[in-house]
Amino acid sequence: MQFSSQNLVHFTSWLIFLLNFISFSLSDPRISEAGLFCSKNRVAPNTSLFFPIFVKEMEVISTLVTNNSWGHYAVNGTQISIYALAQCYQDLSQTDCLLCYAASRTWLPRCLPAVSARIYLDGCFLRYDDHNFFNESIDPIMDTANCSSSSGVASAEEAPSFRTSVEELIENVTVAAVMNKGYAVKGLSGVYGLAQCWKTLSNEGCKECLAKASRNVKGCLPSREGRGLNAGCYLRYSTEKFYTDQNASNTSRASRTGKTVAISSSVAAFCMLSFFAAYAFYARFKKTKQERKNLGRILNAYNKSNLNFKYETLEKATNYFDLKMKIGQGGAGSVYRGTLPDGKVIAVKRLFYNTRQWVDEFFNEVNLISGIQHKNLVKLLGCSIEGPESLLVYEFVPNMSLDQYLCDKNKVRILSWKERFQIVVGTAEGIAFLHGGAEIRIVHRDIKSSNVLLDDNLSPKIADFGLARHFAEDKTHLSTGIAGTLGYMAPEYLVKGQLTEKADVYSFGVLVLEMVSGRKNNAFVEDSGSLLQTVWKFYKMDNITESVDPSLKGDFPTLEALNVLKIGLLCTQASASLRPSMEEVVQMLTDFNCEIPEPKQPPFINATLLAVNSSGSYSSTSSLLRNAFNKIEVSCTSTDQSSSLQSSSGPVRSVELRDYYNNSSSQI
Ligand SMILES: *[C@@H]1O[C@H](CO)[C@@H](O)[C@H](O)[C@H]1NC(C)=O
Ligand SMILES: *[C@@H]1O[C@H](CO)[C@@H](O)[C@H](O)[C@H]1NC(C)=O
Ligand SMILES: *[C@@H]1O[C@H](CO)[C@@H](O)[C@H](O)[C@H]1NC(C)=O
Ligand SMILES: *[C@@H]1O[C@H](CO)[C@@H](O)[C@H](O)[C@H]1NC(C)=O
Ligand SMILES: *[C@@H]1O[C@H](CO)[C@@H](O)[C@H](O)[C@H]1NC(C)=O
Ligand SMILES: *[C@@H]1O[C@H](CO)[C@@H](O)[C@H](O)[C@H]1NC(C)=O
Ligand SMILES: *[C@@H]1O[C@H](CO)[C@@H](O)[C@H](O)[C@H]1NC(C)=O
Ligand SMILES: *[C@@H]1O[C@H](CO)[C@@H](O)[C@H](O)[C@H]1NC(C)=O
Repeated sequence: MQFSSQNLVHFTSWLIFLLNFISFSLSDPRISEAGLFCSKNRVAPNTSLFFPIFVKEMEVISTLVTNNSWGHYAVNGTQISIYALAQCYQDLSQTDCLLCYAASRTWLPRCLPAVSARIYLDGCFLRYDDHNFFNESIDPIMDTANCSSSSGVASAEEAPSFRTSVEELIENVTVAAVMNKGYAVKGLSGVYGLAQCWKTLSNEGCKECLAKASRNVKGCLPSREGRGLNAGCYLRYSTEKFYTDQNASNTSRASRTGKTVAISSSVAAFCMLSFFAAYAFYARFKKTKQERKNLGRILNAYNKSNLNFKYETLEKATNYFDLKMKIGQGGAGSVYRGTLPDGKVIAVKRLFYNTRQWVDEFFNEVNLISGIQHKNLVKLLGCSIEGPESLLVYEFVPNMSLDQYLCDKNKVRILSWKERFQIVVGTAEGIAFLHGGAEIRIVHRDIKSSNVLLDDNLSPKIADFGLARHFAEDKTHLSTGIAGTLGYMAPEYLVKGQLTEKADVYSFGVLVLEMVSGRKNNAFVEDSGSLLQTVWKFYKMDNITESVDPSLKGDFPTLEALNVLKIGLLCTQASASLRPSMEEVVQMLTDFNCEIPEPKQPPFINATLLAVNSSGSYSSTSSLLRNAFNKIEVSCTSTDQSSSLQSSSGPVRSVELRDYYNNSSSQI
């Protein structure tokens, strides 16, 4: 192999670049969580006052941390005060500090709407409270130690000497910290320690805090690792060297560069550098595999700027969530219309804070869904997770949602047959794309008329993937939290929580029958009022076109209507296996030569049928459903509990099963 010297210089500089890149990207912000404490019984009485202050507070802290690696700030309002403090442990580099702070800021709002919360990561600390805690060194109730250790406990024979080493180290490192402005790291006979006091603390406070932390942490012995989590300080010992030694890293990096420059003109450089790169990569990779995974997630969150909207931007876009901008209210949150600084009109879905729990999954979902584009799906533009609430940003669809046409009492705008057919086909194509068009398969789980939006050309767009979960290899999986809307939910999903694409097919079938008949499906009405039952009855009487919406005044092609109704019945058959796939449905709808099979089975009609069919939980299921009936308003005028994205507070009469669960202790 021949290298020209120019090539070699190029190659070497590339390698140096790579090395720097590796040491940057694999540095360790230590974002694993050592403790999160929320004041469970002290919550903000008025969240609409509390959240804006909270957001402002965190923003200020962000700029302070960016500049100085720590910061404290207080908003002293008349009704609400929020004090906050964030600090990175001093061995973290600036980049790592920001990453750690970003992680803590993303996770701390899990405590909202608590008025007080603190989170200890292994690289930084963040706390907010309703009173001035800046010179609080110890807390008789909250102070604690986390003794969990990934490397286990010292064995019985080494325990005594291990105990001596740890005790000496703790003495040594805390004394050093008190003398050294509240920070020290030390390594002694195979044990490593870090002590850090918050910068707002006096020397006396720091001493008191570390003394208490020392006692707590010594209680962790013979565990190989312990962390003291106090109001004013953090103390950790471990048999692994977890901290970054500033001196060591400075010198090694300096000598590394020096060596590189000195020998870069020789072939030896190539060999040495490759070896060194491989070694550095291997060593760091081994150590930080787990952190890298976490880091990747955080970095993703922060770097995908096109997906990551600032909370403030969205707040301004919606005029601080002005009620006038509100265009919808759903089970998971309310939807506002907004205008971005560049003039783009968006829809912002404000998820209630209690859905914060799944913030980790949330980002995966956003990343997942934002990659999916189809003319019949509402596009997710991005999200914001930094504020007190999670916000989803969607493209704005100007027209109303389908349920508003269906439930329009005055029939101001009656959709023609052609328009209805177009909507049915578009919706089918959208769902079929979710089920198989993209790289991952997605079950929407909440297909219903209020989730189908219409644009200016009355072309349908399916909204609200908030409930969507993709599922990997297994075809059927038991969903843990059943979400969805009664009346559209497939029986197997309702009863057993069994979720496949066929549950969407069922919901689609209900939607089709609603479109054609111009009526909403009265879920679980046990008399003949149920739409599904009515259509099935007409079908059995060979008179299915009787169920077509009378407001069309007979102005529709009979054969096409017959076919569409049959498709609706095929999709709502009680057995999932009998239902066609969405791909087949699209073919039946668009290919006129396609033979449409006869539906074999009546749709799932009432609770008793269901309860008898499903062996096992007869009593619990039927009583569950009976209770659910009682909660369902049958008229078109009840307030909407469950419609979601962009449906104005229009009338729908379905309840979300999840809401129901919250009010009872029943479980499926
Ligand atoms: C203790 O620290 C470990 C490691 O960071 C963490 O996994 C665990 O959740 C912590 N325990 C508590 C009670 O927070
Ligand atoms: C919360 O504060 C807002 C704004 O001051 C006020 O309009 C609202 O009535 C308050 N709500 C409660 C429950 O006090
Ligand atoms: C942070 O630093 C920048 C530039 O050094 C400065 O303009 C800004 O005012 C500082 N912010 C704070 C909050 O100190
Ligand atoms: C905040 O306000 C309270 C009373 O309104 C006052 O006692 C306290 O000293 C103030 N704190 C700060 C930091 O300004
Ligand atoms: C510091 O703590 C003491 C009590 O330990 C308290 O009286 C004092 O007000 C605090 N100082 C400030 C500036 O908050
Ligand atoms: C810390 O350790 C060193 C060496 O082990 C020892 O000489 C020194 O006295 C210790 N310092 C304190 C404050 O314990
Ligand atoms: C790091 O360097 C400082 C000053 O350069 C020195 O005082 C200190 O002892 C060094 N620490 C270690 C662990 O070598
Ligand atoms: C190491 O780097 C830090 C910041 O880059 C600096 O403050 C410190 O003095 C350096 N230590 C040595 C021994 O050069």
